Amino acid sequence: MAKSRLIGLDIGTSMVRAAELERNGRSGRMTLVKYAERALPPGAVVDAAVVAESTVTDAIKEMWKEAKFSSKDVVMGVGSSRTAVREVELPLLPMDELRQSLPYQVQDMLPMPVDEALLDFVPGTTVAGEVGTQVRGLLVAATKAGVNANVDAAEKAGLRPTVVDLNALVLLRAARGVDPSTKIVGCVDIGGGMTTVTVTERGVPRVVRVIPTGGQDVTNAIAKRLKIPVSEAEALKRRPASEHAAVPGGEMVKEAIDEVISTLVDAVRNTFVYYQSSNPGTAIEMVVLTGGGALLTGFAQTLANRSRLSVTFGNPLDGITVDPKAEGRITAPVAMAVVVGLAQEVAA
Ligand SMILES: Nc1ncnc2c1ncn2[C@@H]1O[C@H](COP(=O)(O)OP(=O)(O)OP(=O)(O)O)[C@@H](O)[C@H]1O
Ligand SMILES: [Mg+2]
Repeated sequence: MAKSRLIGLDIGTSMVRAAELERNGRSGRMTLVKYAERALPPGAVVDAAVVAESTVTDAIKEMWKEAKFSSKDVVMGVGSSRTAVREVELPLLPMDELRQSLPYQVQDMLPMPVDEALLDFVPGTTVAGEVGTQVRGLLVAATKAGVNANVDAAEKAGLRPTVVDLNALVLLRAARGVDPSTKIVGCVDIGGGMTTVTVTERGVPRVVRVIPTGGQDVTNAIAKRLKIPVSEAEALKRRPASEHAAVPGGEMVKEAIDEVISTLVDAVRNTFVYYQSSNPGTAIEMVVLTGGGALLTGFAQTLANRSRLSVTFGNPLDGITVDPKAEGRITAPVAMAVVVGLAQEVAA
């Protein structure tokens, strides 16, 4: 089998990222051949949807010029806090028939009118139900408006989105370092504007939740308490905790950080508790953290202490050869989970 290439495009709250992966058909080895990213100003993307279209479009155009990606076809990620994801059981039908019948089957289960939703179903296991064999899986309902805003921005930048996938569902691919005997994994991606939580059982996603809180909330909280510009607050946040005490108002920095961490850790834990209480006898075995926000001093430790789970950082590039030119453009590998996951899409 020949080599195949795929490009993932992740339009995040604080950064646009694009990654081109080459897969060797015979060995299965993957190489990150091209990579580019651009920071976005606050407000350009809100709740996972493009608001300032020309800002995002310009960023994408620059990235294609800079890294010379070999195609304009991209796999895009979506998933805002308004995306509804829930486990449902549906009649066992061929996948294309099942997808076509979704609007009729699930209209009563949605928190939005069916004609405003983009629907998908991720099959999991088959179960014997009262009305015959059913397939249990995740029903995904994204708001058309949010997804269209991102697809439009990509198209205006000259790209062709060929597949749109849910960010949450590609996160497990970042947990490459996890021992394969681990059955139940919690993946937590802390971005700028949101935190995506997935619980996966033997590779099958069981729970997905998007919490509308991320690293930007920490920055904003620091800026508000210390009455300083957001850019200063951002730089302060990234300094090690030991240095926070040394700046004027250092105590308030710590308070602001702790407050957001506490809220976020509680929300993540609630998702884990929800999974475990709806699946008695199961236990999450480990948690893999990704996203730039995961680098926030104290988050991983607080999550580990309060959930009593083993928490590790995911390395989305683990086992992937990285071209030196691409490597030079990477600022934070831990924040590449979604974009690298998208570039590993396999046809459904
Ligand atoms: N060293 C660091 N310490 C603390 N926070 C950091 C550090 N580096 C990056 N961050 C934070 O990570 C966040 C960005 O993470 P990431 O790039 O994963 O988000 P995104 O994908 O753009 O956003 P989202 O996924 O929410 O749409 C920002 O809030 C940034 O402040
Ligand atoms: Mg992100």
